[in-house]
Amino acid sequence: MPEFSPDRMTEVAQLIARYPEGRQKSALLPILHMAQHDFGGYLSTETMNYVASLLAIEPVEVYEVATFYTMFHLTPVGTYVLEICRTGPCALAGADDTLERLETILGIKEGETTPDGLFTIKTVECLAACASAPVVQVGERYINQVTPDCVPALLDDLQLGRVR
Ligand code: FES
Repeated sequence: MPEFSPDRMTEVAQLIARYPEGRQKSALLPILHMAQHDFGGYLSTETMNYVASLLAIEPVEVYEVATFYTMFHLTPVGTYVLEICRTGPCALAGADDTLERLETILGIKEGETTPDGLFTIKTVECLAACASAPVVQVGERYINQVTPDCVPALLDDLQLGRVR
C-alpha cells in the first residue's frame, strides 16, 4: 500500500483545509499529481484507492477523474513522456508527421514505452498553445513547433538531459 511521507501528509492536510467541510474532494487534482510524482510516475489502482481513502471518498470518484485527464498515467511510463497534441491546429500544422517520425525513430507506437524505459509516446487533446503548433509536452515543458525535422534533436536533448 502506497503511503505519503509525513511532509506530504502535511501538504495534503493543508490542501484539504482550503475547502469547506464535506468538500474535501476539491483537493483531488493536486493530490493526484503528488501521488503520481511520489509513487512511480503513474497512478496504480492501489494508489488511487489510497487517495480515495485520504479524502474519504469512493474509489470510483478518483478513477473517473484520473481516467479523464491525460496528464495522469494509469500504467508505468518512461522517464520522458512525449505528449503530442493532435487537435485541429496542431493536426493542420503536421502533428501526425511529427508523431510518425517519433514512432519511427524510437521504434514504438503511440501508447508504448521504449525497452530502455526512457520514452513513452502519448497523444493528447489541445494543450492551449495552438499558436505554437505543433506542440509536444514533455513533463512540465512545452516544446513548440515540433516538426519531423526537429525530432532527432529533441530526443538527443532529452537523452542528454538538456531539456528538463
Ligand atoms: Fe495543439 Fe491547441 S491544438 S495546442
